[in-house]
Amino acid sequence: MSNEKKLAGEAAIRFVEDGAIVGVGTGSTVAYFIDALADLRERIRGAVSSSEQSTAQLKKHGIEVLDLNSTGQLTLYVDGADECDPHKRLIKGGGAALTREKIIAEASEKFVCIIDSSKQVDVLGKFPLPIEVIPMARSLIGREIARRGGHPVWRDGVVTDNGNWIIDVHGWQITDPVALEQDLNQLPGIVSVGLFARRPADIVLVGDRQI
Ligand code: 5RP
Repeated sequence: MSNEKKLAGEAAIRFVEDGAIVGVGTGSTVAYFIDALADLRERIRGAVSSSEQSTAQLKKHGIEVLDLNSTGQLTLYVDGADECDPHKRLIKGGGAALTREKIIAEASEKFVCIIDSSKQVDVLGKFPLPIEVIPMARSLIGREIARRGGHPVWRDGVVTDNGNWIIDVHGWQITDPVALEQDLNQLPGIVSVGLFARRPADIVLVGDRQI
């Protein structure tokens, strides 16, 4: 599987155009992409990063990290996922970076998702759904999740780059991810839901195979 992650990270390089500012996700698959991107550092203008972790790796390679507020719309975003369904809808947030990832995905024309084959599912939900919450809303959101048949588990000890907490929801078979994403997005205290369904990936690379 880790070879497939490496193949996917390297295959995503073909979508990088000269002069681009590249949106960069987070995780072990993206780490391969960043390593490959280092070879192109002279040909790109820089990157917008979704996490402190990716920022550190980009800077180590001498790639300039830019503020999304100063770049305008991006042409390309490359990121991994925890699950991917046949419609390219995703669960993300295993690395707790979902909010910034979602912002950059929304700001990008093309979202290339890089995964290994273990991430492919028919129905989302086997991987617990990460939700970033404002700390004081943790119990409130836990109750709302339980009312909807989910089993909320606080990712104790994890603080996101935005200073918030993560709840992982077990036990949901997510047959309508767009509706669930919309429903949860209405709840005060939820910062981001790790469902990328309203804005799915445009292209998915499973290893070096495009689907
Ligand atoms: C981080 C993410 C990652 O993309 C997801 O967890 C996949 O990570 P990996 O490439 O290490 O399997 O959503 O918030």
